[in-house]
Amino acid sequence: MEDKTISSVSKITQSPLTNKENEPVLEIWGGHPLSGTVTISGAKNSALVLMAGSLLCPEDCRLSNVPDLVDIRRMSQILTALGAKITKNGDILNIDAREINPTKAPYDLVSQLRASFFAIGALLTRFGTVRIPLPGGCAIGARPVELHVKGLQAMGANVFIDSGIVQANVKGRNSRLQGAKIYLDYPSVGATETILMAATLAEGETIIENAAQEPEIVDLANFCCAMGAKIRGAGTKKIIISGVERLHSVDYRVIPDRIEAGTFLVAGAITRSEIALSPVISEHLIPVIAKLETVGCRVIAESGDCLKLIPGALKGTDIETLPYPGFPTDMQAQFMALLSISEGNSVVSETVFENRLRHVAELQRMGANIRVKGNHAFIEGVPMLSGAPVMATDLRASAALVLAGLAAQGKTIVRGLHHLDRGYENLEDKLQGLGAKLERVISNQ
Ligand code: UD1
Repeated sequence: MEDKTISSVSKITQSPLTNKENEPVLEIWGGHPLSGTVTISGAKNSALVLMAGSLLCPEDCRLSNVPDLVDIRRMSQILTALGAKITKNGDILNIDAREINPTKAPYDLVSQLRASFFAIGALLTRFGTVRIPLPGGCAIGARPVELHVKGLQAMGANVFIDSGIVQANVKGRNSRLQGAKIYLDYPSVGATETILMAATLAEGETIIENAAQEPEIVDLANFCCAMGAKIRGAGTKKIIISGVERLHSVDYRVIPDRIEAGTFLVAGAITRSEIALSPVISEHLIPVIAKLETVGCRVIAESGDCLKLIPGALKGTDIETLPYPGFPTDMQAQFMALLSISEGNSVVSETVFENRLRHVAELQRMGANIRVKGNHAFIEGVPMLSGAPVMATDLRASAALVLAGLAAQGKTIVRGLHHLDRGYENLEDKLQGLGAKLERVISNQ
């Protein structure tokens, strides 16, 4: 094992995958079964949008079950730069957005975090003006924001985009946005959230047709309603918002992270281990559970909010990513790792983002037999993956490589951990708690 370790590390130094010096890498020794129960954190994508939503409110917002993640810290910095006062106590964030300057979003931070752009609707509707840089985030496609902009324009905003900065203002009576009927050409999660937040303080009724139905939209609507907003239909394709003049303080708990939960379910399946997860809302995981059952595992609801994964002989299946309640694009890479060691042939089709198959090349380094054509990956299951140095290319790809490493024979070294740290709270600790052998070390190569 020692010799192999040395040679694989030296391979990294010679490879184009070379990491920056002294950057942490994750070393994983595969082939160890997992057991026990893992605690699922609050949902990253919910917490981020609720933080943006707190800008609607001129009183204190208290969010609990907020995961400790790089993305959340970046969002806190952005809200602070806008003037919010944030205090953190464990998983609780208290956000006081009484005094906000809606033109102060810092370019450097917003360009690193796509979700921070989603603050545009909250800022515009509360202050009648906003200035915010165009967003960044994972490199998984173009990810434009024209649906956000069109929605705000339909509500009466003037929007200008200049040198990477979006500026918007509302003319007319009280600088208030006006309720409107908005049909989204595509059920974008972010655009639905932007428009929903903007509509809470608009004058009159807003109807969003072909809205996204993700659980994070429902969480945002529940959060806004708890502040006094009037919203019906969240979680369906038609959301109706009756604008109110002002929102009030709130104490709100973020839902469990369905993608983190899905990732751990795959960890159980790929290592052929029986593990339990809690807390989860199993309804949010229906498409993921259905696919796990098709590949040969069983997922059993235990008491209340606990799920148990019972492993089985893995067989291939086809997956197409779709907006909720379809199979989530954020679970596609993790299932690709699983299908690469599932018997027979599988086809994975990515329809949500146009550049989200970059983990294939890394799985191939580990011995996976995958061919990509357009947005389809054709997988022929192999009996076993083998450990290799690999590079994470985006957040969920990094999780897929960790999962592959857990199942592989020998040692895997995952680089590019800044992706992983954006979205998984204490992943190593949680996996170690289940019995996995992995360690974060500093690579001097
Ligand atoms: C959110 C999630 C992300 C998840 C994605 C799809 C957050 C912070 N991120 O991202 O983890 O992968 O939903 O479930 O919640 N699009 C346009 N024009 C727009 C907006 C989007 O063409 O104005 C396209 C995007 O380029 C993409 C597709 O719509 O191809 C889906 O994007 P969207 O649903 O908006 O995802 P996000 O909200 O960015």
